[in-house]
Amino acid sequence: MLQSVLISKHIYGEAVAFLRESVRVDYHDSDEGLPARDLRQRLSGKAGLVCQLTDRVDAPLMDAAPGVKVISNVAVGFDNIDIPAATERGIMCTNTPGVLTNTTADLAFTLILAAGRRLGEAERYLRAGRYKQWRVDLLTGWDIWGATLGVFGMGRIGQAVARRASGFNMRVLYYDPFRQSERVERELGVEYVPKDELLVQSDFVTLHCALTPETRHLISTGELQLMKPTAVLVNSSRGPVVDEAALADALATGTIAAAGLDVYENEPHVHPQLLELENVVIVPHIASASIRTRTRMCMLAAENMLAGLAGRRPPNILNPEVLE
Ligand code: GLV
Repeated sequence: MLQSVLISKHIYGEAVAFLRESVRVDYHDSDEGLPARDLRQRLSGKAGLVCQLTDRVDAPLMDAAPGVKVISNVAVGFDNIDIPAATERGIMCTNTPGVLTNTTADLAFTLILAAGRRLGEAERYLRAGRYKQWRVDLLTGWDIWGATLGVFGMGRIGQAVARRASGFNMRVLYYDPFRQSERVERELGVEYVPKDELLVQSDFVTLHCALTPETRHLISTGELQLMKPTAVLVNSSRGPVVDEAALADALATGTIAAAGLDVYENEPHVHPQLLELENVVIVPHIASASIRTRTRMCMLAAENMLAGLAGRRPPNILNPEVLE
């Protein structure tokens, strides 16, 4: 008998069709996620779950569906899944790295440019009919060309952002618990510095680390105070990496100049003060949102699922220990 897979939420049709070639699919084809209780009920009796970062995949869910062998996240981040709990239960977990690297780096760089050049504020100004005449100091911002960029997290996406920065003649500093080899540093033109040094020296700070207990509130009041009053903070990693209340306060009081945000501490909720501030560009978690990339993420999630269910090693397994 064919194995059954639950798709928790709407994904691109190609991936659904691809899954249907090999497994039975229970497809919750909706933009609304399933409430926890419904997710538990629908998953019962299934061999796999294709889920998204909006789904909380925890031990009670896994225990409600003991037949599940593969959990395939349509995202590179996987902080929504309790990986140790899955590993304990012998469940393979997978994500979708690689295919979204450049699209995500493009958005991070867009936020660097937009926040540095006050793009959101300028557009609101014009749309509100406030543009009466050119002025020498109208909406003046901070140069990107030749500025110092601090990259937190020099994984695939951090590296892709560093590559873009070289086209803007930026000096690139980075911090990561894992230092890159000299060859990679040379090739990317990046300098390794301690975390505090990065904050003190950078004109733009961009975050590209995974959300873990160590990176939760990596940027809070103390870190913001180390930054230049002209500095810009960009976050396209995960919201809780930044203490959102501390950031709102720093932006309101001029501790730093501006921010560009794609992610929030309690999505889809955004700290109300951030919504009021002019010096923050805010977008709704769209870093990987190009049609091509999102389609590739869905296809990769389907490939990971089918490989795992067929007893093969999924290309993007997060807990390979379960295969041993
Ligand atoms: C999006 O945030 C992802 O992790 O892919």
